[in-house]
Formats: sequence, structure tokens, C-alpha cells
Amino acid sequence: CGIFGVVNDKQASQTLLRGLKALEYRGYDSAGIATIQNGDLGCRRAPGKLLNLEAIVQQLPLEGLTGIAHTRWATHGKPNEANAHPHLSLNVAVVHNGIIENADFLRTQLSAAGVQFVGETDTEVLPHLIANYLQADLCPALAIQQALKEVKGTFALGILIKGMEDQIIATRRGSPLVVGFNAESAFIASDMIATSGMADEILYLEEDDIAIVKADSVHIIDAQGTPVFRDKVSVDHNQFIATKSGYDHYMFKEILEQPEALTRTWEGLASTSLNQVEEMDFAKLDRLQIIACGTSYYAGLVAKYWFERMANLIVEVDLASEFRYREPPMPSNGGCLFISQSGETADTLAALRFAKSKHQYCLSVVNAPQSSIARESDFVYRTLCGPEIGVASTKAFTSQLAVLFDLVKQAAKQRNAGQHIIQELGDTPEMDVINAVQQALNKANKIESIVRFFDDATSAIFLGRGQCYPIALEGALKLKEISYIHAEGYAAGELKHGPIALIDENMPVVVIAPYDRLFEKTVSNLQEVRARGAKVILISDKLGCEICKEYADCFIEMPTLHETLAPFVYSIAVQLLSYFTAVQRGTDVDQPRNLAKSVTVE
Ligand code: G6P
Repeated sequence: CGIFGVVNDKQASQTLLRGLKALEYRGYDSAGIATIQNGDLGCRRAPGKLLNLEAIVQQLPLEGLTGIAHTRWATHGKPNEANAHPHLSLNVAVVHNGIIENADFLRTQLSAAGVQFVGETDTEVLPHLIANYLQADLCPALAIQQALKEVKGTFALGILIKGMEDQIIATRRGSPLVVGFNAESAFIASDMIATSGMADEILYLEEDDIAIVKADSVHIIDAQGTPVFRDKVSVDHNQFIATKSGYDHYMFKEILEQPEALTRTWEGLASTSLNQVEEMDFAKLDRLQIIACGTSYYAGLVAKYWFERMANLIVEVDLASEFRYREPPMPSNGGCLFISQSGETADTLAALRFAKSKHQYCLSVVNAPQSSIARESDFVYRTLCGPEIGVASTKAFTSQLAVLFDLVKQAAKQRNAGQHIIQELGDTPEMDVINAVQQALNKANKIESIVRFFDDATSAIFLGRGQCYPIALEGALKLKEISYIHAEGYAAGELKHGPIALIDENMPVVVIAPYDRLFEKTVSNLQEVRARGAKVILISDKLGCEICKEYADCFIEMPTLHETLAPFVYSIAVQLLSYFTAVQRGTDVDQPRNLAKSVTVE
């Protein structure tokens, strides 16, 4: 979910909608705004995309200079109007990002005291709880602080109080929140990206800070009730500009941007101001733990193959949601590497906090430099792919691979390992990758022409071996995310242990098989599915396609590259395949159903 707010703006409701537009990547199940007009709270909410709310606000405008806004990714309760934020009591309106874990208990207590709830969300308890403490004649900041002592869970909150037109009260625990300013107005937002083009300066609230945000001032008290200052930083307005540049979808534009994104990321790593690689000494590690979610997790899996083979370093890769609760034993002074495009994924952030509590060196690979994960890590390595708007990750993934490859080379040098591979890769592997990625993108038309193989498919299988196994997993994830075709990624050698039972003539099987030392093994698996009638789509290089094309129903030829670097180019092929399949099916490519770009709840 994303929250936003503005204080003292003549166009407050339009500004709120503009802020929400920038936060839609955090959820788009429903949206709402509330303002204070002549001392009274007014509210508009709508299920579905922001467009629906915009239409309602156009029909029934909301006046007022100060307001709060929310875009929702549903956790508790259906994405309907009653469950959309803001939630109101008689005199308090609240927008919330996070989860109130003891909401059921609080609901029962409040109901017994006569509160009538209209929806099913966890958030709805908050305005009532806060209203109770306001009745006890506490000042708003203290009333909120007392109310939140009863709350378990995570939250970033924007709160309006009836009669207080000149302020928003903002607070957070576990979810990020920024406060921004320009000469006339103040803002609150889940992510600084939402204040882009509006705020000139921002500050980040710390855990349990309570901020009274006015147009020309902010007063903050910390968890102990002591007034505190938080440093402001200036905003670079050009940082977040993202447009479709004439393309139908952000996703396609972002796929095409990859040569540029890789170039920027590697140049950034080479420049001394951003390069912290020297500070991490991989030689002192016995093993490295990589932790991430979604597509970032698959970047971590590729890195495992690289670190082990090139740097002789044992690597374990874990899903953040599993790692954080498994609480595995951690060697003292071990290393943990967190990968996250947004830097705000709740499970990854919680895993980072656990690792820090176990005195691990915490490295992170992030795209959002001011994000919580970046701010809380010991070493931060940035992907410089620019804002990624399409919910399905593309350029962020290959940019993560770029940073990871750089770290692996560094680790190999420090550990005096893998030098024969480094030599084989030559002096300019990065340039080779960038050129090959461009050539892979030039195959877009060919890839578009083969999506007919998915016309009647309800399921698909992606197979790969070695470092292309994670690309098979990523290819299957991409296809499910945006085309809604059920897809499974499998290690090609594992096929015969189950998934082969699914194969029939309706099942497209995408075989990712560069001509490398595992090629023949994968070709055997290709033969096995072919013998059982599957439609085989082979993705290989020149030699691989020449050897194998007669066994495949169609083939996509990728540029030839050292096998270590194959994940860069084969991910382009699976991205394009998913993209064109989704377009063919007419799905919402940039905002697929039920998903969010940044999952800030666990
Ligand atoms: C969501 C997004 C995915 C992303 C994952 C991890 O599920 O839809 O595209 O890979 O979160 O996000 P992160 O920002 O931590 O990389």
C-alpha cells in the first residue's frame, strides 16, 4: 500500500491524486482521499484502479487545503469501497500502510464499547482507538502515541483530526515514511518518489517518531516523547522522471532500456564515489548468505553459481520470508547479501534486521538509494537502472546481475580463485554483455512471431541447467505474472522426477540451452519432452540451434557469449516471450491483477 498527504495546497485533492499516481506501484486494488474542509472531514473512495477514484473526485470534488490519500494492496478484506482507506471515526481519518496484527482483539474490545465497523480491514480500528484517547483530553500527538501502545504490527500512518486544518500527524513503525517541504506546502509519503516535482527537501521519520507536519514546520517527538530533529536532505527533481516514451507499456520500454541500464550500473560501480566494493573483504568469509524475494531471489540464485564457481565461496540463497522465521544459526562475522529493487520489501527488510542482530556483515544490492534496506545496510551497491514502473521486474533484474557479477569478480580476486575463468572472459566482459543484450533485443520480432505456441496453453514449462536454471524459474515467473498462464520453471535434470507427467501436446516447453558444457544433457531432456508430444521452444545460440533445431517446434537464436554470462542474454529472451504473450492475451501488462511492485507487508 502507499500513503500520501499534503498540507496547505489550494489544489489539495488534485495533488493527492498526483501523489497516489506515483505510488500506484505499491498496490492498485482501491484508492481514496480525505481532506478537511471548514473544519470537517470529507472523504472519497473507490474500488479498483486510481482512474475510478479520479472519476468520482471529478463528479464530487473535495475542497480543503489539507488531506491524506491511500492506494491499497488488499490484506484484510476484499478490495471494495468499504475496505478502501481512508478510514474514519467521527473526528479522525487514517491512511495506513502495514498490518495491525492484533486487529481482531482490538475490534472486539471497541465493538463491546459500542463502535460500529463498516468494513473488514485491520486499519479500521485505528481511527476509533485514537478517537478514544483524544476524548481523554490528551493533545493529538500524545493521544496517538498512547493509542499506538495498544497496537501490534507494522504501520506508516497519515492522520487528520477534525478541526485541525493546518496539519497532518504522521508516524511509523516498521514501514517507511518521508516528510517533504517546499516554500508553501508540506507532504508525507511512503516513498520519496511520490513527492517528486513537489518537495524540495525531505526527511525520513525514525521508528515510532510522531510528527506534526505543518506547511512551514515539523515537530517530531520520539518513542520516549522527547522532541527530536531529523536531518533534511535536498531532492534531485530529475531523478524520478519516468514516461512511456511512446511505447504502449512501461514494461516494453524497460526491457529495451537494458543496454543503457547495464552501462550506467557498471559505470556507477567503477566510479569511486559509488564504489564500496573494496570495503567488503570476501576473503574473510567462509560462506555467504543471499536473501531476497521474487525476481530478486532469482538474481541471487544466478549469483550462487557465479560465487561458487568463480570465487570458490559457498553460497546459500534463501527466500526472505523463510529466512526470517527459520532464524538459522549464523557464524560470527558472516556475510549476508540482500537483493531488492525497491529496498522496501517487508520480508527482506525484516531478514536484514535479523541478520544485523546476529552481527553479520550486511551488504545490499538496491535500486532505490534512500530506501530502508539501503539505509540499514553496512555496504550498499546500487543498480542504476532508473525507476522501474512495470510491476514485472526486467531491467532491475539484469542490473542486479551486473552488480552481482562485479562483486563476484572482486571476491574471486580477493580469494585468489577462478582466475582461469576471469582470463577466459577476457578484458571487456561487460562490453560483451552489453553488445549481446542489444543483439538479443533485436530478436524481438522473431520472438513476437512465436507467441502463437501459447495461444491455447493453460500451462507451460521452462527448463534450464546450471546458471540458466534460475533463468528458467524467472521465465516461468514472468509468464505467470503478466499473462496469467500457469508456468513452472524446472532444473532440466529434475524433469523426469515429476513434471514430465504433465507433458502432452498442449504443453509448450521452453528449453533454455546455450551451447555450453551442459548442452548435451539438456538436449537429452529436450528429446524426452519431444517424444511425449510437447511443443518445444528452444532458446539457444548459433551452434546450439544448428545442432538441435530439427528437434524443436521453433527456436530463438541468441548471440554467442561465454557461458558464465549467458543469464544476461537469456533473460532478455524470456522477458520478451512473456511480454508478447501477455499483449496477445490482452492482459494489464504493467499492472497485473493482484500484484504490487513493492510488497511492504509480509
Ligand atoms: C514483488 C514484485 C516483484 C519483485 C518482488 C521483490 O513481488 O512484483 O517484481 O521481484 O516484489 O521486490 P524487491 O523490490 O525486493 O526486489
